Amino acid sequence: MHTAPRRGLTVIDHPLIRHKLALLRDVGTSSRDFKQLVGEIAALMTYEVTRDLPTEAVEVVTPLETTIGERISGKIALVPILRAGLGMVDGIVQLIPNARVGHIGMYRDHVTLQPVSYYFKVPTPASDHRFFLLDPMLATGGSAIAAAAELRLAGAKDLALLCLVAAPEGVAAFTAAHADIPIYAAAYDRELNSLGYILPGLGDAGDRLFGTK
Ligand code: PRP
Ligand code: URA
Repeated sequence: MHTAPRRGLTVIDHPLIRHKLALLRDVGTSSRDFKQLVGEIAALMTYEVTRDLPTEAVEVVTPLETTIGERISGKIALVPILRAGLGMVDGIVQLIPNARVGHIGMYRDHVTLQPVSYYFKVPTPASDHRFFLLDPMLATGGSAIAAAAELRLAGAKDLALLCLVAAPEGVAAFTAAHADIPIYAAAYDRELNSLGYILPGLGDAGDRLFGTK
């Protein structure tokens, strides 16, 4: 089942995702389990997010005869926003082993909440790929907006944003900046607090993933 509380946003709603999200939010969840859950939720979302991927016919020889099967056509690029987006990559790669992986280095200045860009490397030519931009958290939207703009500047035309938890403020800002880029989320949370953290949220995704706090 899907719900679309805002234009441009698809919330992928499934009992397994809801179950794993509750564990992810839990302050008592260890860094190891947090990492596993991020990957598992990303993998579950992939089923829905890739629903419209093009396929092409391919001849397959079974033990009994020759038949026609299908294979995914076109190039797929996963682009995690560092650091926390890295946690989503392996779960998706398990389902799309041929996906290429780019990286965008971006962090939020703790005072201004503005994104600071420090690294950019993506598969080329960018115009040949379908890009999945990965970040567990869409808070103010600043990081995802800037990352999508960098991808566009590099020539990317086919883009989607995958996040685990989206705040209304981030969805509104991202949609205003990139109206043609669909957003997929596992949860649509209530609001941001005064420090720019998502409520109820799950805290600092990068720190929880890598055990840095
Ligand atoms: C977090 C998160 C997003 C960003 C979201 O990264 O992973 O990239 O904040 O916030 P925004 O929507 O307000 O931009 P952070 O800046 O903590 O960097 P890190 O992953 O390296 O810790
Ligand atoms: N970044 C995070 O990791 N968590 C939030 O709640 C907001 C931004």
